[in-house]
Amino acid sequence: MTGASSGIGRAAAELFAREGARVFGGARNVGGIPSDGSSSAHALDVRNEDSVRSFVARVREESDHVDLLLNNAGVGLGGTLLETSTEDFDETFQTNVRGAFLVMRGFAPLLVDPPPGARPRTILNVASILGTIPASGLLAYSASKWALRGMSLCAAEELADRGVRVVSVNPGYVATAMVAGAPYPAGTMVQPPELAEIFVNLATLPRGAQIDDVTVHPHALYAHD
Ligand SMILES: NC(=O)c1ccc[n+]([C@@H]2O[C@H](COP(=O)([O-])OP(=O)(O)OC[C@H]3O[C@@H](n4cnc5c(N)ncnc54)[C@H](OP(=O)(O)O)[C@@H]3O)[C@@H](O)[C@H]2O)c1
Repeated sequence: MTGASSGIGRAAAELFAREGARVFGGARNVGGIPSDGSSSAHALDVRNEDSVRSFVARVREESDHVDLLLNNAGVGLGGTLLETSTEDFDETFQTNVRGAFLVMRGFAPLLVDPPPGARPRTILNVASILGTIPASGLLAYSASKWALRGMSLCAAEELADRGVRVVSVNPGYVATAMVAGAPYPAGTMVQPPELAEIFVNLATLPRGAQIDDVTVHPHALYAHD
């Protein structure tokens, strides 16, 4: 999984490990990634193709397949069209779109073709509710999440015949550092461990079902998010 060093990703890494999974967590801040018996922390910069390749190779050394890829790393740079610098636009797309693509393409060979009769494997791409609506003031971020969601829906069709379910998870406010400046108290938002529970549910769907695109609202802010 990517973006395991804080917020949503860290909560997910902790829950997956408690559920008995062998968790490979990647992020730039390796010290923030949970690491104990069943979890390991790996240096990963999704903007760098060699770094993604090394992460995939490291996982492949220890396992011939992956049951769940959580493609979660992302940055949230703000700004309107007139305010957004080329650097911020590039940084956003390098991480949220190109990085997510490199990770998904890198791990896909370890997910496809589960044994006959086995449950389909799962890729969860963490997009955003802002990839489902226009988010003025967050132009580059919103556009990057629309792109990620589109890529996810394409991959869902492409990998369906190969035993892989691909889901775009589109959260509203989740109480992490990324939304520290939001005009709502953290307690009214979805909590990272709650979203992690939803990831577990999406990874363990009944065999015959497909969910490809799911928006997760903070219940207390449903009218406002
Ligand atoms: N919080 C929300 O309300 C919300 C809503 C919708 C969607 N999301 C999405 O949820 C995901 C997680 O965000 P969060 O809220 O948990 O924020 P966060 O606490 O800032 O976590 C972001 C994670 O992404 C990692 N990351 C960023 N750039 C990276 C890079 N180049 N290479 C590898 N890892 C990188 C960070 O790790 P390092 O800095 O250590 O590399 C960190 O672990 C993001 O994709 C975000 O867009 C969040």
